[in-house]
Amino acid sequence: MFRPQQKDFLLLDSIRAVQVIRRVLARIDTRLVSHGERVAFLAYSIIKDTPVEKEFDLHKLFILTTLHDVGAYKTEEIDNMVQFETETAFNHAVYGYLLLRHITPLAHAAEAILYHHTPYKELLKIDCDYKHYAQLIFLADRIDILHLSGKVPDLNAVIRSHAGNVFAPDLVELFISRNTDGAMTDMLDKERFMPLIREGFNKLKLTRSEILRYLYLIVFVIDFRSIYTTTHTVQTTGISAAIGRCLYLPEQQLFELTTGAFLHDLGKVSIPLSILEKPGTLTDMEMAVMRKHVTVTEDILSGIVDDTIFKIATRHHEKLDGSGYPNGLRGTDMTLCERIVAVADIVSALMGKRSYKEIFEDEKINFILRKMRDTKQLDQLAVNTMLRYYDTIKTAVKTENARVQQLYDTIYSEYALLTGMPKKDS
Ligand SMILES: [Fe+2]
Ligand SMILES: [Fe+2]
Ligand SMILES: [Fe+2]
Repeated sequence: MFRPQQKDFLLLDSIRAVQVIRRVLARIDTRLVSHGERVAFLAYSIIKDTPVEKEFDLHKLFILTTLHDVGAYKTEEIDNMVQFETETAFNHAVYGYLLLRHITPLAHAAEAILYHHTPYKELLKIDCDYKHYAQLIFLADRIDILHLSGKVPDLNAVIRSHAGNVFAPDLVELFISRNTDGAMTDMLDKERFMPLIREGFNKLKLTRSEILRYLYLIVFVIDFRSIYTTTHTVQTTGISAAIGRCLYLPEQQLFELTTGAFLHDLGKVSIPLSILEKPGTLTDMEMAVMRKHVTVTEDILSGIVDDTIFKIATRHHEKLDGSGYPNGLRGTDMTLCERIVAVADIVSALMGKRSYKEIFEDEKINFILRKMRDTKQLDQLAVNTMLRYYDTIKTAVKTENARVQQLYDTIYSEYALLTGMPKKDS
């Protein structure tokens, strides 16, 4: 199980963290977010105030339902998901399960995600402590999809016809008893269920380290899309923090720096893999798309994080001589923390293999940094600190990188094993 080395640096409370997660998932596909919330509403409404309710930890149920399709970042998977019956292997359930199990505090309960498309009859034969969660999520999920299709005149009858075979009979009966004349499913229209969802989110009292681990889930959903960026966010955050510490920044400023660095590339979620992984130079048009990741990061973070962190996260491609993007800012406009993340982002890219370049030798990295400092693109103090403590900083981030790389390899080999897919090269 992956536990971040640096603990509790993130300056985000649980409500804000949930907002960030929602916005990132919505960038993958808006259906992911609204479907998750409707499933949370349905699952909770089915069991609320019934004897079955005590079998569920509502906190867990709420997070599991909301995130149950987090593994479905591939569009083709989302399209499969909206069919009622399909032979597809539901790889997104496997991927979502692995992400939740290895990263979040809900490690054990993640089995509910693995089996959230497994019919009741099959699930009976499987040894799993979270069967009842899986069945409830499955039922709520299919109710939502059927209701959304608008093609089912008598939804209760269709659901009942699958009781005992596809769905758990007791849950089906609870649902039908509560959905007379569509009383429950009508709430799905025009987002009438949202107040209950908001209430649920507000009740989630997560600790700082839990919040951090859910945020890691989202960061890894993004970074693990490409074999070239698996450790980029963790590395950029680690380098930024190390430079900040070498400069004896006060703790509050260090936390702002690391939080900004940690959130800096969320917008990459919107960049197609064909561009992220293109071997060779990007065309002007592709570069324009690539640059949009900063604007997307701005959209994701706006109104959620404070101005200082917002700017640290979204100015990492600005250069002191005005040649950077998106705003062509000049040095005088940028704070030290913003300049540090700009340096850390470049160092991380130089240290890693990319589709267009191999890993650079330390000497070459040092040469490039000095050149960018001398041509007034990068901050002198930040670069000098990086160069002076180069070996120490590199060693400091190496351990965390190795752990993230290990996590990536584990998730992909387990994914290959569970789905029968050929193992992805790493
Ligand atoms: Fe699903
Ligand atoms: Fe970036
Ligand atoms: Fe970056």
